Amino acid sequence: MNVAASMVRADAAALDLIFRQARSHKAWRDMPVPRVLLQQVVALAMAGPTATNSQPMRIVFVESQQGKERLRPALHAGNVAKMMSAPVTAIVAYDLDFHVHQARTFPHRDVASGYRADPAHAHDTALRNSTLQGAYLMLAARALGLDIGPMSGFHNDAVDAEFFAGTSLRSNFLCNLGYADHGDLLPRQPRLGFDEVCSWA
Ligand SMILES: Cc1cc2nc3c(=O)[nH]c(=O)nc-3n(C[C@H](O)[C@H](O)[C@H](O)COP(=O)(O)O)c2cc1C
Repeated sequence: MNVAASMVRADAAALDLIFRQARSHKAWRDMPVPRVLLQQVVALAMAGPTATNSQPMRIVFVESQQGKERLRPALHAGNVAKMMSAPVTAIVAYDLDFHVHQARTFPHRDVASGYRADPAHAHDTALRNSTLQGAYLMLAARALGLDIGPMSGFHNDAVDAEFFAGTSLRSNFLCNLGYADHGDLLPRQPRLGFDEVCSWA
């Protein structure tokens, strides 16, 4: 049997939607994003793999005008209008205490004590895996028909002080979500080629 022919794979339209035609957006149409859709996006994103099933990502969906005003001072000037005009801005964060859930999420082996004993390792794990989960979140959003606009042009300390003071949560990056104005984009910039980024060993 032809193994390749038996494999399930996404069709061309799905690949266009999630990768080939998808862009990072900066201008937004005045269309709300239903909370139930964001719940579906998160459910998909949470299915993605993380180290020891650690799932350190935490998200604040900033959708109110009041919430946007709390976020505004932390942003680099060039990102303020993009954030303020987006229907929702996700603060993609990570929980340094993610390991308190590991007895449930990785019950066959005690990994929590290792994270507790080595805070630097716990931090690296939280940052790395919340970044991965943030990527799953963006691709899940695209898969469910949303447009995205990720942003790291902001002061993490300021966001942490405003939203996460006194907690074990830290901001990673922001992601605007909604329905974009597709006309307001420069052409897509070139991607590096396979031989520039890959080697064989
Ligand atoms: C983690 C991350 C941070 C980014 N930060 C910003 C930002 O602060 N401001 C901005 O306008 N775009 C930002 N971008 C968007 C990138 O510039 C964009 O994804 C890249 O140029 C590719 O564009 P394309 O997806 O439209 O092809 C960011 C993207 C990522 C993934």
